[in-house]
Amino acid sequence: MNKQQYERLAGISFKSNEGILELQNRSKDKKECKILLIGGAGYIGSVVTKHLLECDYKVRCLDLLLYENNECVIPSLMNENYEFIYGDFTNPKTVDHALVGITDVIILGGLVGDPITKKYPEISQIINHSGMLNLIHLLNGKGLNKVIFISTCSNYGIVANNNLADENCELSPLSLYAKAKVAVEEHLSSLRGKIDYSPTVLRFATAFGLSPRMRFDLTVNQFTRELYSGEEVLVYDPETWRPYCHVKDFSLALQRVLESPLELVNFEVFNAGGDKNNFTKKMVVDTVKKFIPQAKIRFQEKGSDPRDYRVSFKKIREVLHFEPKYSVSDGIAEIIKALDQKIFNNVSQRINFYENNQINYASNL
Ligand SMILES: NC(=O)c1ccc[n+]([C@@H]2O[C@H](COP(=O)([O-])OP(=O)(O)OC[C@H]3O[C@@H](n4cnc5c(N)ncnc54)[C@H](O)[C@@H]3O)[C@@H](O)[C@H]2O)c1
Repeated sequence: MNKQQYERLAGISFKSNEGILELQNRSKDKKECKILLIGGAGYIGSVVTKHLLECDYKVRCLDLLLYENNECVIPSLMNENYEFIYGDFTNPKTVDHALVGITDVIILGGLVGDPITKKYPEISQIINHSGMLNLIHLLNGKGLNKVIFISTCSNYGIVANNNLADENCELSPLSLYAKAKVAVEEHLSSLRGKIDYSPTVLRFATAFGLSPRMRFDLTVNQFTRELYSGEEVLVYDPETWRPYCHVKDFSLALQRVLESPLELVNFEVFNAGGDKNNFTKKMVVDTVKKFIPQAKIRFQEKGSDPRDYRVSFKKIREVLHFEPKYSVSDGIAEIIKALDQKIFNNVSQRINFYENNQINYASNL
């Protein structure tokens, strides 16, 4: 769809940014929207919650607080437009209860990342695969408008010759984590004509930047903290590519989906990020080095993570007019500032808060 077709469908014009403002104003008419954020107390969810509340949405969060991340919801609890439900999205009764009065759902929850899913393969199967498929069925027949499933650009695995992977590129998930995401995406796409809500898949780039539930097991955040500490950092496969995106930009991408005409997002898949933030690991550490010139780095080939993918974000840019505001350098700068302010001087004592490291999970299925 080109810009003119989008403008016609949305009934707006993007001249001098007026159209964007008009889209944002429409959210003011959307005070009746109540969004269920599943996994909304996590790294990305905590930032998205704040953003949606600032945009006048009502937000209900359903989260199991797997990483001692309880405190992340406290600031939101003080907002009258926010509710929290402690619970497991694999439990049908919990989901039915959480859906009362909800208009739209954003699914962020699950075991996130290759290491934690590798460490808990059975639980990962219960939560990320069978539980997620079940959830998708439970959402049907509830009169919902949009359901946004958050997937990952990791689904591309390895893309040959540094080509840019667009949404039509063949998926080649390498980990249990990405395999479950692909299975859910495939299932969702098979439901056309069988469900009463409008699903959209966003394949997120790797996140970076500050969040109330900070994660230091993500490349940009991790390299920044480790290099700041003064230790020599071993970087595997420095020439491998990955797209990155600031957590605050993901909030904007989600807002765009919520506020776009159904025709533009119904059963659509979008890579979420920006072309400029495709970086090799070497480019990431070189950017950190601009802030910390004395940083010590060693490179080594043949690490355990062979992922190597550059991604095209043309579709989200052209169809939803989404372009990230923040660069990798912006994210590194804000983390260094927080490190200078001693905000993260307790990471080694609270490793399970700052990384997806360990869980204590009893299935509710
Ligand atoms: N962080 C990234 O770089 C990245 C990249 C691509 C895609 N994503 C996707 O974005 C989403 C959010 O990632 P994140 O980094 O915020 O992860 P996170 O681990 O910080 O947050 C996930 C949240 O889900 C909750 N949760 C897990 N299982 C649950 C269950 N059964 N019931 C209820 N709540 C449950 C956890 O308690 C946690 O608060 C995930 O879907 C992830 O796959 C993340």
